[in-house]
Amino acid sequence: MERMNTKFHSISLWFCFACITVLLGCSSVKCTVTYDRKAIVINGQRRLLISGSIHYPRSTPEMWEDLINKAKEGGLDVIETYVFWNVHEPSPGNYNFEGRYDLVRFVKTIQKAGLYAHLRLGPYVCAEWNFGGFPVWLKYVPGISFRTDNEPFKMAMKGFAEKIVRLMKSENLYESQGGPIILSQIENEYGPQAKALGAVGHKYASWAANMAVGLDTGVPWVMCKEEDAPDPVINTCNGFYCDTFSPNKPYKPTIWTEAWSGWFSEFGGTIHERPVQDLAFAVARFVQKGGSFVNYYMYHGGTNFGRTAGGPFITTSYDYDAPLDEYGLIRQPKYGHLKELHRAIKLCEKALVSADPTVTSLGSLQQAHVYSSNTGDCAAFLSNYNTKSATRVFFNNMHYNLPPWSISILPDCRNVVFNTAKVGVQTTKMEMLPSNSEIFSWDTFNEDLSSLDESSTFSTIGLLEQINVTRDASDYLWYTTDVDIGPSESFLRGGELPTLIVQSTGHALHVFVNGRLSGSASGTRENRRFTFKEKVNLRSGSNKISLLSVAVGLPNIGGHYETWNTGVLGPVALLGLDRGKQDLSWAKWTYQVGLKGESLNLVSPNGIASVEWMQGSLIAEKQQPLTWHKAYFNAPDGDEPLALDMSSMGKGQVWVNGQSLGRYWTAFATGNCNECSYAGTFRPPKCQLGCGRPTQRWYHLPRSWLKPSQNLLVLFEELGGNPTGITLVKRSLTSVCANVAEYHPNIKNWQIESYGRPEESHHKPKVHLSCDPGLVISAIKFASFGTPLGACGSFQQGTCHAPMSHSIIEKKCIGQQRCLVTISNSNFGRDPCPNVLKRLSVEAVCAPKN
Ligand code: GAL
Repeated sequence: MERMNTKFHSISLWFCFACITVLLGCSSVKCTVTYDRKAIVINGQRRLLISGSIHYPRSTPEMWEDLINKAKEGGLDVIETYVFWNVHEPSPGNYNFEGRYDLVRFVKTIQKAGLYAHLRLGPYVCAEWNFGGFPVWLKYVPGISFRTDNEPFKMAMKGFAEKIVRLMKSENLYESQGGPIILSQIENEYGPQAKALGAVGHKYASWAANMAVGLDTGVPWVMCKEEDAPDPVINTCNGFYCDTFSPNKPYKPTIWTEAWSGWFSEFGGTIHERPVQDLAFAVARFVQKGGSFVNYYMYHGGTNFGRTAGGPFITTSYDYDAPLDEYGLIRQPKYGHLKELHRAIKLCEKALVSADPTVTSLGSLQQAHVYSSNTGDCAAFLSNYNTKSATRVFFNNMHYNLPPWSISILPDCRNVVFNTAKVGVQTTKMEMLPSNSEIFSWDTFNEDLSSLDESSTFSTIGLLEQINVTRDASDYLWYTTDVDIGPSESFLRGGELPTLIVQSTGHALHVFVNGRLSGSASGTRENRRFTFKEKVNLRSGSNKISLLSVAVGLPNIGGHYETWNTGVLGPVALLGLDRGKQDLSWAKWTYQVGLKGESLNLVSPNGIASVEWMQGSLIAEKQQPLTWHKAYFNAPDGDEPLALDMSSMGKGQVWVNGQSLGRYWTAFATGNCNECSYAGTFRPPKCQLGCGRPTQRWYHLPRSWLKPSQNLLVLFEELGGNPTGITLVKRSLTSVCANVAEYHPNIKNWQIESYGRPEESHHKPKVHLSCDPGLVISAIKFASFGTPLGACGSFQQGTCHAPMSHSIIEKKCIGQQRCLVTISNSNFGRDPCPNVLKRLSVEAVCAPKN
């Protein structure tokens, strides 16, 4: 654990420290973490802390150390995670802390890296996680009502909170015990719910706060988005920006628990990106205002393995456009630019935590925030809120140029070490490349409808709510009924076919008539309800109508979402018969929970032999719905992260060696993928990607799930698709790029090579390129000094181009692991277009040294 080596001597701070210590109610444990109006105080010292969310079940234990070390390298002090109740207590009193759910190992990994931890206990977590983190059994506790002043709920919540705190204490994981945990959260964004509920909501919020404080952890508690958080609990902010936020008491620090680094995606939707210039701007705005704790949600988003995604319709990928991508690889320039921001902020830490800002206007949309302490520290933030134009401002007897929508950071009130809009770090291009590993010996097994096994079914009159029947043991519930059609119906003699209408409360539905798929329908995250309405082919006599209702993750947010329905609740009716409409809603319905293949455990290497598989040569031609497919493959060589390309398939779930990679769905993204400018207030609709393409094509397959050969791949396909089109790919860094502008001769340099050098020093800007260890620059794909266009992977020459650009970069960089090129006219022979602001764009290929 990183410990402070300097003592903070302010008497007033010690006074505050003492009174807050009392406030926190520390009794049996020693309080070494407290807070005051400026910051979290650790061992007597105020700290400005940068934190990032990494949710342990969204990666594998084998990835944790690397993720956490990369976070540390990126300038983080704290790792935040929620605690996910439903994975830890799958049935009442039965706990699971193994594998991806090994919370103690995760926290110890944070400790080993020398970082702090923020444990957000919830137990309501939201988080695009199934049922918002609550176990489904909780819904069936008699008399329960979630997240309100309800005894059964409070008892269960308290029980789980105590369980986790006891576990953490028994492993000495709180800071007061020498462990890494410095902060903890109870509930999650309860404010809106409290408002909706009125008095009982407030009563519950106070109860939750008091219950948490009573757990005696020796570290402060926070409640995010809960204005009424009672003392000593700190209310905190979540959002894309939090610079207008202030805590509810003047003696609490300003904390941002969720700085959204990007956004989640849903099947059928686009991918959301948040430009790093805007994220850095938002963080700088928060810090200049006096914020002293920022947590990126997410720093690593990861993967919703198995059926952990909530929503519904949340994709299996939870990449989130985070600084570490879904696979745990560094995403540039996001990671590098934030790292530089963190270094700049840390240079200001002493001034920031000891002084209050003086704010002065530098123009109609420009400000200076200056922190100047008694001990002589001075830090300044110069901001330009103009979304369109750069401005030259006068501050402290000097001129500074501020790009649009940006903040410059001056840790000594003179020299700019960082500007949020100027991305100097290199970018990288990641691609999914084919692996050398072939997937072989495909076999299939048909989930035959007629085989709905009597012993596993039951019948009743009317339609039942899906989760009440499945208890979420499976995504699937069969609803089957028989319809008699008289021989005299006119559609049998060439008349118009009848229409089947099925109203579902969610989430997806496949309709089978006499064993044949007659159509599918689904809702959306915003509107789970939908109606299936299609003509159906019936025959004279008895007809079997089978509805396969599919849940795609239970809701994770919304007032009393535990009472929301899923499945076919009707009406179900046939229209266009001779007698008009036949309502089937109150017919006799037969139910089966889950699939036959699920009950036979076909997904596991042990269960695989329990059915007769059909050999695969016919698969490609015969794309059947409701089919299990199995195949084998050997582990690809190398250590790049792996994924399955599932774009040849429809919808279903996929497993490797018995481990679920999650739900897949080749749903095509609709949205608006127009230009995305970093400047101006960010909202997820602003920067969308992937319109017209499958929302998710690649599914992360963790390396640690593989053995060298004979890995078993099993999938269940609901619609039909060609499994022989599935391939194993490696996520590989294929190019590194740089794109840096020359300094404008009339403007003081906004950026310099290293920290602490005076701004006015006339250092020329440089392009840095560097490959991962073991790789060297093997080719220059693109180089242009002039006015090149485009981005990494798609650069193009502009109207101005120095002809020697390519050969000069080649000469300096080929064969090197890293290279540095100064941007100057003389370096490129001569000025290719005088009086034009030029830039140098380079794309280089990294390859193993030979
Ligand atoms: C927040 C919530 C998080 C997560 C986020 C969106 O409101 O607290 O758990 O759901 O939204 O990703």
